[in-house]
Amino acid sequence: MGPQRAGDTAVSTPERPSPTALTAPPAPQQELKSLRSALGRFATGVTVVTCLDSAGERRGLTVNSFTSVSLEPPLVLWSLRRVSPSLEAFERASHFAVNVLSQEQVEVSRHFASQDPDKFAVGHWSEGLGGAPVLSAAAAVFECESYQVMDAGDHRLLLGQVMNYRDQGVAALVFQGGRYRLLGEVL
Ligand SMILES: Cc1cc2nc3c(=O)[nH]c(=O)nc-3n(C[C@H](O)[C@H](O)[C@H](O)COP(=O)(O)O)c2cc1C
Repeated sequence: MGPQRAGDTAVSTPERPSPTALTAPPAPQQELKSLRSALGRFATGVTVVTCLDSAGERRGLTVNSFTSVSLEPPLVLWSLRRVSPSLEAFERASHFAVNVLSQEQVEVSRHFASQDPDKFAVGHWSEGLGGAPVLSAAAAVFECESYQVMDAGDHRLLLGQVMNYRDQGVAALVFQGGRYRLLGEVL
């Protein structure tokens, strides 16, 4: 059975039948699109996660699956699609760095979400723990020692222990509904 949406559980009455009860079940592709769209309601920040591969080359990609997990010990998590050409590098790397992008760094995000072979041509980078590239003027940076890698469907979950971090105190870039956004008002 496919994922259930809120509308699927609506109780129908004889006077006003639920619209979804009269609709044919969505095709798998439509269902994936609708699930992706529902998941995209959740607003996130945007990061570029980096590491050094076994040949000493810098690797990195745009990631919004980043989340904090534990304070003691300090653990963070992100997920990487299994078909990524960077998978092996991240699985083997001793360290990775999570660069939380500022709202001035939307071009860095676009570039690291592309297939450009020269990803580090955009942004100013220095070498962090284990050689993982650290981005200047990022809103925050978490330098992590690789802690655990787990299977999760078509992705792998990568946990890291934060060994070093910095917080620039500037506004972070936001991603919601498939679009980049500025932070809104404080409520
Ligand atoms: C805002 C945003 C968030 C993304 N988050 C992830 C993510 O969490 N995990 C992932 O595997 N890909 C994510 N991607 C897609 C990768 O950035 C993209 O596929 C990139 O080309 C991967 O680089 P690679 O081909 O070197 O693996 C995201 C893309 C965007 C634009």
